[in-house]
Amino acid sequence: MKQLQNNVVRKIKNSIGIFFITTTLHAQSNVDIDALLSKMTIEEKVGQMTQLNLDVVCEGGIYNLVEPHHIEPAKLHKALVDYHVGSILNCGGHAYGLDQWHTIINTIQQVATTETRLKIPVIYGIDAIHGANYTLGSTLFPQPLAQAASWNTDMVKRGGEITAYEVRATGIPWNFSPVLDLGRDPRWSRLFETYGEDVLLATEMGLATIEGYQGNNLADAYHVAACMKHFLGYSMPRTGKDRTPVYIDEIQLREYFLPTFQAAINAGAATVMINSGELNGIPVHADKKILTDLLRSELGFKGVAVTDWEDIMKLNNIHMVAPTLKDAVYMAIDAGIDMCMVPNDYDFTILLTELVKEGKISEARLDVSVKRILELKKQLGLFEQPFTPANTDYKKFGSTEFARAAQNMAEESITLLKNNNQVLPIQQSAKILVTGPAANSMTYLNGAWTRTWQGTDTIWNDQSKYTIREAFNPATTTFIASDNMSDTDVREKMFAAAKASDVIIICLGEKPSTEKVGDIDALTMPDNQQQLVGLLKSTGKPVVLVLVENRPLIVNDIEPLCDAIVLVYEPGDYGGLALANIIYGKVNPSGKLPFTYPRHEASLLWYDHKHTETLDQTFGRKAFNPQWEFGYGLSYTTFQYSNLKISNDTLSTGNLQISVDVTNTGTTTGKEVVQFYIADRYASITPSVKRLRGFEKVEIKPGATHIVTFTISAKDLAFVGRDEKWISEAGWFDIMLGSEKSSFYLSK
Ligand code: BGC
Repeated sequence: MKQLQNNVVRKIKNSIGIFFITTTLHAQSNVDIDALLSKMTIEEKVGQMTQLNLDVVCEGGIYNLVEPHHIEPAKLHKALVDYHVGSILNCGGHAYGLDQWHTIINTIQQVATTETRLKIPVIYGIDAIHGANYTLGSTLFPQPLAQAASWNTDMVKRGGEITAYEVRATGIPWNFSPVLDLGRDPRWSRLFETYGEDVLLATEMGLATIEGYQGNNLADAYHVAACMKHFLGYSMPRTGKDRTPVYIDEIQLREYFLPTFQAAINAGAATVMINSGELNGIPVHADKKILTDLLRSELGFKGVAVTDWEDIMKLNNIHMVAPTLKDAVYMAIDAGIDMCMVPNDYDFTILLTELVKEGKISEARLDVSVKRILELKKQLGLFEQPFTPANTDYKKFGSTEFARAAQNMAEESITLLKNNNQVLPIQQSAKILVTGPAANSMTYLNGAWTRTWQGTDTIWNDQSKYTIREAFNPATTTFIASDNMSDTDVREKMFAAAKASDVIIICLGEKPSTEKVGDIDALTMPDNQQQLVGLLKSTGKPVVLVLVENRPLIVNDIEPLCDAIVLVYEPGDYGGLALANIIYGKVNPSGKLPFTYPRHEASLLWYDHKHTETLDQTFGRKAFNPQWEFGYGLSYTTFQYSNLKISNDTLSTGNLQISVDVTNTGTTTGKEVVQFYIADRYASITPSVKRLRGFEKVEIKPGATHIVTFTISAKDLAFVGRDEKWISEAGWFDIMLGSEKSSFYLSK
């Protein structure tokens, strides 16, 4: 039975005219998908599998829309009525306000639900990577890599909830997030979109985000469908450059790159986006083994698989595996794609229709995908509620409550990497010089996917938010821009200001970028930025280096010149305030690195490397010699680990409980991330030196002790063996918890 709650009749104005809409905030659909499917023509089915860029239905050219962007009725009619298109994505190059989104979504849905034969609503998708970043006035969180540095799954889940709320407030029910690719190569431009290098941390963060996005009911007015991406093996191109070949053997693929996706599927992630690149010589969009055998048969994924941007076309014109575009369409559909993010023309739609009519692809094959797409629309409540509820239904959009959550997350993620002689925190009264390219820029703080794709167009920045220098006490802060350091006057002014300060805060980093735009040739911090540190250090004043980065840039040469180093990642709109709170000691830093910070460009290794990578026995050279290790991060207090206990020294079929006492031995309350590592001493596949098997973030008052307990079973000790299957082998395992160590025996 159809249940209607909170029925509202509303008047909506848009470019087509004025019409009445009945909205249902919590509806359960009774639409019969099989019956609907049975009524559909081939063209209607293919249309459901087509996803277009918003530009296609707007006035102006693709990527060159007429401002202010609005829908052109004839183009929309062509897409929805003539080509039966079932999905639209993206914004036309920049963010819109809520009202503009409402007009866009409602105009589209009005045509879909009144002018098309079967009145199937459109599903709109968007990239909301660190908040509803394509909606003006939304709450911008730290980027995912920074979120992972908080090691706080509750906070990350809350971030997911707020993002979902603000995305749904626009009328959009589908978020192309989270990135579940493991961030194991700092050269890759999208490292900041990942949850870092570790399987367990990335899995837990991914799950928390998906829980936040999807809640318990996709149809409610405050949740959206998640899209795990990019399946599979996207994040480690051999060249470090985006969308270039990846080579990962089956054992590594299964042990490191699959678990984040497997866990998300088990947790009910609604959709998946496919890896745009090639894996082991095969473009993933054409790889049936991955898209059908692995994703569907083995992992049991039942949701919608959407391509990435233009990726069917790329099988033909970039990957060169399909001699014609029609071959490309055939390959991708045969491999297992449900929906094609075409997104700028009707070629896919025309060619797939032809393939079915020629009998090369069966209609039954279309039915499989179309059913998944319609089921998703049904789960999202779109048949009952295709339109956007009014702003008044989303009173918390852009609220101070949401801003506080974003700032909390920034405060918990910022990572203190060095603090010689307790130079931090500083007094509010201390005289400071703030400088560096990231010192007065919201763009650096927010990163890519901020109001625009690359996030670099400053006109979209929210002027009410605080840059780093604006967040410090204005009475005691001098800011000097570092843009013109070759000008002698500027250098002298800078030097004099530094001399007159108690502390110098230098904010270095990387201008935001993502995808191919973010490909780099060197991982080192640019020379001019390094020179700034050298110049200001020569004043003899304490130097605090603040790193605002997409990825860890090499700072080996300047690290010794700095008294303190704070990594803020890309902390979002509230990152300036969060940093100031940490530097003034109002917040005790508790972020920990979610990746290994490299010391040398030619030594990019992760913490769970092999023993041969730790030390070369003959020549004594260390391959693993990072600047800072995964999991590292200082606090203004100190923690002592003691009293490690194991419930048994042998593990067989049951569980082992491992506990440790963590005491705050300092004078300030602090949060500690208790990291539980295990090392397999001997194994039939060379074991890693250690693996993270559990973590918990706890707040401890000065002098207090917190007992942290972990439970493990043989499953947690398993690895992918020579036959590419998970196994656990009998033998000794070493446990590491802070300074505490112990071992136990796994018997079979
Ligand atoms: C990116 C995806 C993104 C899509 C839609 C692609 O270029 O690789 O991560 O979801 O564009 O914007």
